[in-house]
Amino acid sequence: MDKIVVRGGLKLKGRVRVGGAKNAVLPVMTACLLARGESVIENVPRLADVSTMKSVLERLGARVTFEDHTLSIDTSGVDSNEAPYDLVKTMRASIYVLGPLLASQGGAKVSLPGGCAWGPRPVDLHIRSMQELGAKIDIDHGYIIGHAAGLRGSTIRYSMPSVGATGNTMMAAGLASGKTVIMNAAREPEITALADFINLMGGKVSGAGTETIEIEGVRRLSPAKVRIIPDRIETGTFMAAGAITAGNVVIDDCVPEHVESLSRRFAQSGIKVEARKNQLRVRGKRRIDSVDVVTSPYPGFPTDMQAQYMALMSIARGTCVISETVFKDRFTHVPELRRLGANIKIEGNTAHVGYVRGLSGAPVMATDLRASAALILAGLVAEGETHISRVYHIDRGYEAIERKLRDLGADIERVPE
Ligand code: UD1
Repeated sequence: MDKIVVRGGLKLKGRVRVGGAKNAVLPVMTACLLARGESVIENVPRLADVSTMKSVLERLGARVTFEDHTLSIDTSGVDSNEAPYDLVKTMRASIYVLGPLLASQGGAKVSLPGGCAWGPRPVDLHIRSMQELGAKIDIDHGYIIGHAAGLRGSTIRYSMPSVGATGNTMMAAGLASGKTVIMNAAREPEITALADFINLMGGKVSGAGTETIEIEGVRRLSPAKVRIIPDRIETGTFMAAGAITAGNVVIDDCVPEHVESLSRRFAQSGIKVEARKNQLRVRGKRRIDSVDVVTSPYPGFPTDMQAQYMALMSIARGTCVISETVFKDRFTHVPELRRLGANIKIEGNTAHVGYVRGLSGAPVMATDLRASAALILAGLVAEGETHISRVYHIDRGYEAIERKLRDLGADIERVPE
């Protein structure tokens, strides 16, 4: 297994390009199942999660090639509707095959994803949505087993906005008879991107990006070609890298509006953020002020940036209060940040991050994808060497992060453990 070694203390300077969004490409890949034939997806990041989803689709019988950041997915040979445990357990987003399989094949057998490092993460909203669309769902031996003799449109209201359930429902409803209305839908840019793709396939989805999405089912969808939107969490992570090192970093090929909740906090804490079309410049400074955040669904502050933001706030003046309302116990990074000298106390779903003059390098362990990013960020500013083990987590969501950071002047390398 590899580890990442960071020698901290260098200011990052220069330009970095952000890749396509992991959370946009995964549902777009499964949406290809809604049509027979070859769809093409461009600007796809090279990530472990993309490879896992490729394997899921191949297991269903699709032919998938992935070259030069372009995926071709040919669904002509799809002859199975089973997403097995060995793949689903490595990536919860495999649940995104549920809606497309029920809609296109009338049946699906998808392993229950189970919990993850930071909590139970239920899929009840996915299941209930499929039932509302007329599918019969049983849970048997750890599998969701669904049958649908033709889905029909319905009105579905969520108690809380779920990205995954909204995406799955949009896909299933795309081929249902009649109209589906999703109320209190997730508004994330990745949902809008999925709606755009379904429409490119000939679907009729409107309202994506607002809390009410309408899907007029069509009889047939056709393969399409699409370009994946930039990854807003990778963008935010590089913004934090520029800020935490008091550096001066230009982030190219991003969508500044998608990270507005973060830019606002940065500006309040004294970090300069300049937005241009598809570009951001972040200029940090040595002493920043702490700014509290509460994570919430888009357009609120993203839970996927909470760990990285906490790393940044651990060296900010004052006490910072970070409340996590999306995944209430998503704090596995806290004990590791403490090993680097951060002063963080947890009370329920809230972290109190006290000021420390500096962090100091230590061996730490990555516990999940965004926690790994937080540890790298902390390592960039810590005095001495930080060794981060279990870096396979980082490869799930960041392409070549150590090369990109090195290009910005960081002293970071990947070494066999
Ligand atoms: C997606 C993202 C993940 C991000 C999360 C929240 C992908 C592949 N993953 O995950 O990176 O952290 O959105 O922005 O896009 N919930 C239920 N029942 C359900 C489904 C969700 O109670 O059936 C709850 C969850 O426990 C959580 C909240 O709803 O508290 C939001 O979760 P959701 O938006 O569904 O997250 P994911 O789609 O799994």
